[in-house]
Amino acid sequence: MNYKEIFEQISKELRDFDEIGQVATYIPALAKANPNKFGMYLVTEEGHEYDHGDIHENFSIQSISKVLSLVYAFKLVGTDLWRRVGVEPSGSPFNSLVQLEYEQGIPRNPLINAGAIVVCDILVSQLKNPYHDFIEFVRKLSGNPSIDYCKETAQSEKECGFKNNAHINLMKSYGNIENDVDEVLDLYFHLCSIEMSCKDLAQTFMFLARSGKNPLNNERILTAQETKRINAIMLLCGFYDEAGEFAFKVGLPGKSGVGGGIVAIYPDQYSIAVWSPGLNSKGNSSKGIKALELFTTITQSNVF
Ligand code: DON
Repeated sequence: MNYKEIFEQISKELRDFDEIGQVATYIPALAKANPNKFGMYLVTEEGHEYDHGDIHENFSIQSISKVLSLVYAFKLVGTDLWRRVGVEPSGSPFNSLVQLEYEQGIPRNPLINAGAIVVCDILVSQLKNPYHDFIEFVRKLSGNPSIDYCKETAQSEKECGFKNNAHINLMKSYGNIENDVDEVLDLYFHLCSIEMSCKDLAQTFMFLARSGKNPLNNERILTAQETKRINAIMLLCGFYDEAGEFAFKVGLPGKSGVGGGIVAIYPDQYSIAVWSPGLNSKGNSSKGIKALELFTTITQSNVF
């Protein structure tokens, strides 16, 4: 398949795309993003790579890191994880508090903010140096040793993270947070602040398209069965109250972040990353979703 040509075709079709949306402003550091940036990067099972547009520029991966922290915590505590966080789609915005009270501090899934905060609590309990260990994990998956946290973005979110404070305090009141709330939230904000390029992102997620094996060194990150679980959670929960629509349009497990990135995987075939900072009303990249819809339609590749 001529992926390079397909990328050109998609880019041409999206040239006049007028639903580009708004860059995230609720985290002040993200408001500086240029809404006209656009990149796509594909890594295939055979190890071929295809790119288009702004693929080397770093952006804030935000909630995309929730998949990686979930994988890390799952490796550390195994199925015990599911006692503290569910695996059901929430059908609610990523930062909604409503279900958390009537479900007694157990988040619906690990990809909404509340669930990702519980995952951070597990990392704080399990690791002596979670910041170091986690970023090393991401560097190994991506093959890029220069990937790092962005202190400025983490600080910016910390200064206005009132809702995430509400989440963690509510969960603490139900006994679902073991550690100091500020310590856990600081890790959460740092995980969200990680920056990488479209190229790094597609490479980082490739292990989820390879039944859990890192293609760079064949290291097993997860078993095939564990990988199935992570991919199922991405499919059902990766886009919050737009997860159904993403499955309907794109047909792949994926994850978005308010930095405008999206990554999606097609098991045994490829990993694809898109970056366009304009978000729709659900906080997902508007042009990114459209680009992936065109890609899976043209290539006729989807899990259904
Ligand atoms: O906690 C937050 O609100 C952000 N750090 C992450 C939110 C996010 O990326 C939602 N995804 N589309």
